[in-house]
Amino acid sequence: MPENKNLTQAIEKLTARYGERAVDYIEGAAIRRELTYDDYIKVDTLLSLQQPLTEFHDEWTFMIYHQQTELWFRLLLHEMRFGISQLIATPPGMAKAMESVRRANRIFGHLTESFDVLIEGLSSDQFLEFRKAFGASSGFQSAQFRAIEILAGLDRKAIKGQDNTFYWERAARDKETGEPTLTLLNFKEKHLSWLNQIYEKREPHSLRFAFEKVVADRLHIKPTNPQEFYQKFWQTNDDELLRFANELLKLDELIIGWKIAHLRSAAKHLAKVPRGTGETNWAEYLAKSISDEKCFPELALAKKEAEHEEEVEVQTLADA
Ligand code: HEM
Repeated sequence: MPENKNLTQAIEKLTARYGERAVDYIEGAAIRRELTYDDYIKVDTLLSLQQPLTEFHDEWTFMIYHQQTELWFRLLLHEMRFGISQLIATPPGMAKAMESVRRANRIFGHLTESFDVLIEGLSSDQFLEFRKAFGASSGFQSAQFRAIEILAGLDRKAIKGQDNTFYWERAARDKETGEPTLTLLNFKEKHLSWLNQIYEKREPHSLRFAFEKVVADRLHIKPTNPQEFYQKFWQTNDDELLRFANELLKLDELIIGWKIAHLRSAAKHLAKVPRGTGETNWAEYLAKSISDEKCFPELALAKKEAEHEEEVEVQTLADA
């Protein structure tokens, strides 16, 4: 047996896992081609994915920026799913869940800060030309972004005789006829059933509802009336829960921050055209989407009320 203790332990682990085949496994490691950076990072695959549709120099910026955003979205979903699993575990893994939300927030912050690559670093004149090649495709169809909103806690709402719908389902429609745009139809065909599945499981498989469950269990308050529930919540002095709630509110703010940076990019590059490739009146749609975005609406509202009450109390004391 080797004298190195770590080596002995490693062999023991391999033997426990593979039995006699552990020898083959070790020999296999010795003859296997040396792993390189390219193998691991899949650089060749990554670099094979930039296939612009036109000869315009700046289409590279546009495409690569979108691709990297989708990668970050992927990591965001990975962190959010882990955070949710920790919150609904018994007992809840609050510290790990908190770390996941912090990581998600850091990623959103990074995405917002980096938007200038696309705002300042893209020629609007070129963009207005190469976007003609996009047909009815639009960032509107980013399924990962929609999943992030749902996993955070976004609600579907009912309006005028229609069933519950996502805000974006109501928006991408012809103003006169109310008919859905091609962009919306294509998106729904490919992704709606997946998004609906995530939505249906959101209680408790979303940050908002998983957190509610922890609060209900720990503070013994029932979440039947969300407004009352969160009013009671903000009266707690459970520091861990309060810090978590504030981190969730930060996530909402950061999603809105990203949307504002995104709107700035549309304002700059689409200043001369009224419609996006997704056929929306972008100025109206994107502004409304910012105001509709709230993944933790009752939590935020109840916090504002609690702060207001505190201010009134302080003022009354000061006046007395
Ligand atoms: C030059 C930069 C960009 C412009 C001019 C732009 C333009 C637009 C427009 C006009 C819309 C509304 C739908 C439509 O009519 O097409 C939209 C939606 C959207 N875009 Fe972009 N976009 C840009 C960059 C990006 C990037 C980098 C992403 C990252 C994936 C992205 C993701 C989205 C998402 C998720 C929506 C839906 C937003 C919502 O529903 O609130 N866009 N974009």
